[in-house]
Formats: sequence, structure tokens, C-alpha cells
Amino acid sequence: MSHLIAPSILTANFLELRKEVEMINGSEADWLHLDIMDGVFVPNMTFGFPVIKLIKEISTKPLDTHLMIVEPDRHLESFLAAGADMLTVHYEACTHLDRTIDTIKSLGMKAGVAINPHTSVQLLENILPDLDLVLNMTVNPGYGAQSLIEYSYRKIRQLRELIAKTGSNALIQIDGGVGLANLAGLKEVGVDVFVVGNTVFASDDPVQTIRQLKEI
Ligand code: DX5
Ligand code: ZN
Repeated sequence: MSHLIAPSILTANFLELRKEVEMINGSEADWLHLDIMDGVFVPNMTFGFPVIKLIKEISTKPLDTHLMIVEPDRHLESFLAAGADMLTVHYEACTHLDRTIDTIKSLGMKAGVAINPHTSVQLLENILPDLDLVLNMTVNPGYGAQSLIEYSYRKIRQLRELIAKTGSNALIQIDGGVGLANLAGLKEVGVDVFVVGNTVFASDDPVQTIRQLKEI
């Protein structure tokens, strides 16, 4: 499978949100990545259901929704109602992860689990066969435009092995610090889906940058 690109609108211009979403619609991006932050699980806040609903009305790309929030179980149905196609919860935020994943899937969404940089991939061994997506954070979540943490390469290799060992079909996604210079090496160690924020939105020609990211 060739790799997928999921632009994150975290660093988009929110005064021009319609234009930004339409730009992604007209690009080769595969998914649209939404970073939902609650100011508790991470030290930053972003947006919630009303904004997701508006994006859903105009987006032609699947909404890949990354919940950086505590107690995600309280809101799974609301994210579905707002238009999420894929819902990724953090391992560190879920006490009963198996139940959370079951609920996401029974609601008809794709289910993902995200792990923070310091969290070992081995902790996912039991749940991997049930997942559609594993999101390995390659920066400490909370902000865009940070540098990729170097030990991520080792974790991605370990995750690739664990996915093969458990017979899982989960895609490996990474998030944070991805750019034109490091994508090839990350793809080589086994990444399937790249979240890309700043590299796209700080670029003079985001559509062309997405094309370049797809062509690597
Ligand atoms: C970080 C977010 C990321 C972030 C990636 O907490 O989850 O999606 O926006 O942004 P860049 O590509 O700018 O590192
Ligand atoms: Zn994200």
C-alpha cells in the first residue's frame, strides 16, 4: 500500500477555515486530521463539536479525529454525530480501553489508539488485533511545529513487528514533526499514514506540498 497523508488543521488559519478545508478537498490528501485538545490531557485547547460539524458539511475527505482528551467515553456518540469517520483515543486516557474500542466500532467508526512518545508499543499487544489504526505520537502532544523525537524510529520498527506477530491489520500512523526531509526514512521503517501540520500549512503552496509528500 502506498502511504497516506492526513493534513492536520491545527496550524491552519481558522479565520479562513472554509478555504483551508476546500484546499484540502482539492489536494491529494487522503484524510483530514482533526486534533481535539481539552486543556487537561494536553496543555492546549482546540475546538469541539460545532466546528467538526461545520467541517463535515464541506469536507470531501474522511475525518480522522484524534482525541487528546480525558474520559473520551463520555463523548463517543457526540463525535459520531458531529461527523467523525475515525476516532482515535489515547491509551493513557482510557482505563477500560477494550470497552472504549468496542463502543467506537459498534457505533460504526474506525477505531484507533494513540500512544505518547514515552509509552511502549508492547502495551498494545492484546488490543492490536481489534484496531484499525495505531497512532504513535512522534512529538509530545499539544502543539504543532515541533521536532520529531529520534527514538520514534525504533518504536515504529517494534510496532511493525508486533502487528505482524499479532496478525493485526492496523495501520501505523505517526503525528508530529513530519516533513519532506524525513518522510522517506519513516516510510522505510513502516509508517502507513502521516499526519502533517506545519509542513503543509506554513508552505507557500500547500496543495503542491501535499503532492510532494504523496510522491515520496
Ligand atoms: C500534536 C498534534 C499534531 C500536530 C502535528 O499534538 O496531534 O497533529 O498538529 O503537527 P506538525 O506536523 O506541525 O508537527
Ligand atoms: Zn494529531
